[in-house]
Amino acid sequence: MRHFPRLGVNVDHVATLRNARGGPFPDPVRAAHVAVAAGADGITAHLREDRRHIRDEDMARLRREIGVPLNFEMAATDEMVAIAVQTRPHACCLVPERRSERTTEGGLNVRDGHDHLKLVTAELSHAGVRVSLFIEPGESAVEAADSIGAPVVELHTGAWCDALAHGEQERAHQEFERLRRAALLAERLGVECHAGHGLDFDAARAISALPQIAELNIGHFLMGEAIFVGLPAAIAKMRAAIAQGRETAGRG
Ligand code: PXP
Repeated sequence: MRHFPRLGVNVDHVATLRNARGGPFPDPVRAAHVAVAAGADGITAHLREDRRHIRDEDMARLRREIGVPLNFEMAATDEMVAIAVQTRPHACCLVPERRSERTTEGGLNVRDGHDHLKLVTAELSHAGVRVSLFIEPGESAVEAADSIGAPVVELHTGAWCDALAHGEQERAHQEFERLRRAALLAERLGVECHAGHGLDFDAARAISALPQIAELNIGHFLMGEAIFVGLPAAIAKMRAAIAQGRETAGRG
């Protein structure tokens, strides 16, 4: 049996809740400690240009305090590259960013942004940071990411999860096929494949059946579940779903 995908827990929305009142709690770094104790393999946080959730000092504390890999999500801007080079997280996931969006609404435009992303990837890699590119699950995007020199891609699962959530079976099937083909191509090119956005227990179980997926990054759903059952229980259930999904990999 292949190894399970790693679970990266995104703590952004603990900071969203904290910032709603302007005080110090709930503390996203405390959530990260709880997540690690509950079995998270890594912690993910997105320092957005507008600092709407995670702030600079949160990222610095996460880097200092947590003992598992930190995945620093960021836009490929000069400001963020400077902060990342100083912070030296385990990994940086480059994402597109628009101020008006509610969340990261699509993958990077790796073809138009090719030259710039190549420079940023080289600079971060030189600083010892593992770079992943958050892309739409299309084969041309995987090829472009590979030509940029990124060792990792993270496939955007948002469209697939949206189709699942709306019970649109045909669209969900098509979106899953795109994910499957993109993951296969990444494997062929030697690019490590991660996935994330909008995953709940069922979606995490289903995508874990793709043996190429090495890591899932999950935030919003887990934090929502945590309100009802607590973060450790939500993470334990997510890990069980991932393990169940991976056990079906290669069957049928
Ligand atoms: N991966 C990336 C690159 C993201 O931008 C996000 C959202 O911040 C996630 C994963 C997690 O998505 P969600 O919060 O919907 O689980």
